[in-house]
Amino acid sequence: MCGIVGYVGKRTAQNVLLNGLKRLEYRGYDSAGIATLDDTDKPHIARSVGKIAELENVLLVKPHKGHLGIGHTRWATHGGVTVSNAHPHHVGDVYLVHNGIIENYKELKEQLSEYEFQSDTDTEVLAALIDSNYKNGISLKDAVAKALKKVRGTYGIAAFSPNEPGTIIVARLGSPLIIGLGQDETIIASDASALLGYTREAIYLNDGEIAVCTEKGAEVFNLNLKHLSPNPETIEGDVEQIQKGGYDHFLLKEIMEQATTLHNTLSGRIDPEQGKMHLGGPNLTAKEMRDINHIVIVGCGTAYYAGLLASYYMEQLIPDLTTEVVVASEYRYRSFHLPQNSVALIVSQSGETADTLACLREIKKRGVKTLGIVNVIGSTIAREVDGGTYVHAGPEISVASTKAFTAQVVTMVMFAGMLAEYHGGNVELIAKITKELSILPKEIEKTLKDHREDVKNLAKKYCKYNDALYLGRDTAYPIALEGALKLKEISYIHAEGYASGELKHGPIALVDETFFEVFNILDNWLFDKSIGGLHEVRARGGKAIVFTNSKAEIEADDIIRINSKIKILTPLLLNTLQQLFAYYVAVNRGNDVDQPRNLAKSVTVE
Ligand code: M6R
Repeated sequence: MCGIVGYVGKRTAQNVLLNGLKRLEYRGYDSAGIATLDDTDKPHIARSVGKIAELENVLLVKPHKGHLGIGHTRWATHGGVTVSNAHPHHVGDVYLVHNGIIENYKELKEQLSEYEFQSDTDTEVLAALIDSNYKNGISLKDAVAKALKKVRGTYGIAAFSPNEPGTIIVARLGSPLIIGLGQDETIIASDASALLGYTREAIYLNDGEIAVCTEKGAEVFNLNLKHLSPNPETIEGDVEQIQKGGYDHFLLKEIMEQATTLHNTLSGRIDPEQGKMHLGGPNLTAKEMRDINHIVIVGCGTAYYAGLLASYYMEQLIPDLTTEVVVASEYRYRSFHLPQNSVALIVSQSGETADTLACLREIKKRGVKTLGIVNVIGSTIAREVDGGTYVHAGPEISVASTKAFTAQVVTMVMFAGMLAEYHGGNVELIAKITKELSILPKEIEKTLKDHREDVKNLAKKYCKYNDALYLGRDTAYPIALEGALKLKEISYIHAEGYASGELKHGPIALVDETFFEVFNILDNWLFDKSIGGLHEVRARGGKAIVFTNSKAEIEADDIIRINSKIKILTPLLLNTLQQLFAYYVAVNRGNDVDQPRNLAKSVTVE
């Protein structure tokens, strides 16, 4: 979704802003722009529709030379994708970029009838509101604070005025803003990746806070203008992690680097000798752990599917526990009840997903403990949960989530393994899974290496199809759902995931020679039943691809058999091949795999 960058210091602002905006490209956007102040305090704006490269072309003709500026990538919500709707917006003496949605913008617009609006955006209304307050001779900071008190909705903003050169005002409510504190320079961003390489010291603004940024640092206030003293934090990660590292796409890099990132996820958290798992972050006493009787797992998209897979393992590991897995966008509006002593796992790669965050708040209102299973350090969900664990997958740049899925499942399995100890769980199973976790990174690496070429060829063969069904039973069911999601979001092939047992309840009506089916078949007690579904599909002319760890004879159009010491966690291995398959199909179709159409990396609006 939208991204913000701001700069004040000694460097040429345009270069820092463009560099930062490029780092935010992965979030998804459809237009971009910057506004700067030159050394005579004259403002300049450049905006364009499309990729940042278009904005660079505009700036090539007319470069901006100043040392202060704000920049934005816009993902259209109010108003179409046009230059006049792109940010920054300029009203009177105020230059503004904004992430989020001003819900009462129509009402405010009516009250601001003296202004002639140039765009269809809620942001321009906010700029006008700030300007109307600024006219009364107060500082820009005070004018922004006054305006924001009248606003309903969410915002992360950065604003400047030529009347106060050297100063950028930022504020947040429900949309992240980070202030990077450098040596004689301050860099502002909605995502820490834009700050990497400039500084490691940063202030994460909280909801309801406003800050005055100059090259000497930042002063933070609440909206009543009470001075606050936040402690700067350290930003993790480095520039290398947000580069392609020799791969054609971030997506391929993120699939292939899963062995390494998983190593980070597991580090210090498992003891295969003792057969034990331990996570430091949940912040629960032994009594609280023993008392847990119900787990609700909340997420959207891939995070939801990770939760679904983890719930299968939880049920196996902890017999006296009930689990439910819910889609955040639904759950937030349901009249849900949770048993006493429930715990909620809030799963999110970005830690900023609006629906997941809203659920977290609803669950907290009901007095239930919340634990985050989050990747992005310092993100809003990570800050608002009662406890939790970072999955340590490193920056995930490609819009389609891959390595985060694996890390989320593994982190939740470790939580379940630890919890099982307090619940008299199946000690043998805990030990077996711990052992499997310890070799999982190597086995993922081997699986990807062994089958990359086969999967590539398979993708070539099936890339022209328009429809696909993904099927699986038991722990292969969640990965059928995830496999279908991955294929549809990057290849734009219509793909649906189903539990194999549901085939006869409807989806088999679709099957003919124009469909291909992906069967994930596990070598377990449900093997024969899974094969049944495969026969039914083939009998109706459907093409069947099988991903399996079974050595048994299987009749299919194409089979990829993995050979691994892993048994219980096999779905995670099969899933990496599905990720690779979706990637190569999308490449064959000539799609923009890292930034698929209409999608955004972190869905910060409803
Ligand atoms: O950042 P989150 O994990 O909260 O994001 C949840 C979903 O938006 C995300 O998984 C989405 O489904 C991805 N595009 C999947 O690849």
